Amino acid sequence: MKNRLTEMLGIKYPIIQGGMIEISLSKLVAAVSNAGGLGTLGFRGDQPLWRDEIKKIKDLTDKPFAINLGMYLNDLKERIDIIIKEGVKIVVTSAGNPSKVINFFKDAGIITMHVISNSNQAKKIEDAGVDAIIAEGGESGGIVSNNIISTLVLVPKVVDCVSIPVIAAGGIGDARGFIACLAMGAEGVQMGTLFEASVESSASQEWKEGIIKANEMDTIVKENGPMYVRVIKEEIYPGSVITGQVAGLVARIEKSEDIINRMMSTIEPVMKKINNQLC
Ligand SMILES: Cc1cc2nc3c(=O)[nH]c(=O)nc-3n(C[C@H](O)[C@H](O)[C@H](O)COP(=O)(O)O)c2cc1C
Repeated sequence: MKNRLTEMLGIKYPIIQGGMIEISLSKLVAAVSNAGGLGTLGFRGDQPLWRDEIKKIKDLTDKPFAINLGMYLNDLKERIDIIIKEGVKIVVTSAGNPSKVINFFKDAGIITMHVISNSNQAKKIEDAGVDAIIAEGGESGGIVSNNIISTLVLVPKVVDCVSIPVIAAGGIGDARGFIACLAMGAEGVQMGTLFEASVESSASQEWKEGIIKANEMDTIVKENGPMYVRVIKEEIYPGSVITGQVAGLVARIEKSEDIINRMMSTIEPVMKKINNQLC
């Protein structure tokens, strides 16, 4: 596939594995990037361990990958220095305003993408100089906004506000979701839950099995301090399983490569069905 996003990021397929704190570590990131998508390193609290993960990714793949950086971090400056020193080429900022850091990345020639959850943020973020926007609907796993706007409403709203590429996130589980996002004007998709349940994810076996068992009605949004997080209702040792509604479409634990290949190889039959209805 070829579009502005694949060209900008240097990837084969416009599929991004969303950064997941302590879950998308080097093994998963490299597996996704090696399969033609874009792997994203999730946050690790410990700076040396986090830096080691960046080094490991570089050992495991020569394909593009990204680093996720939360804007709430106290040690943002040190993390940015490490990102630049390690020669990282793509950063995904989230959870806060990225305006204060965009120029550091731009000066270092780093591509930036930022995660937003409503259209009010879109134009401001484009004006701040980010290269692409990830529009994340409230059905997604992880932190969600308190007004929980669905991907189906959010993506076209954001696409209409900006001219940079928009990536849709939240609730994408197969080629049908992928195509729906392209139909809404997105140029790529970001998925978290599907990759959280993959072989290479650092989630525990119990978490992965919890996702497989869950159906689309089994997640709730829980208050967590000042934030809201989507989790599976029932607690599974060791605590709440952070995951999206799309867990209802996850049937097995499989390799990231298989997730990506199945999505890409089932686009054609879905398109055929659509075309048959349109003519
Ligand atoms: C377990 C888990 C942890 C996550 N942690 C983060 C995070 O640290 N930073 C971030 O920007 N997004 C985080 N997310 C959101 C994902 O990057 C992604 O945008 C989201 O999962 C997409 O929706 P989906 O779960 O419906 O596929 C997390 C998601 C999950 C499921």
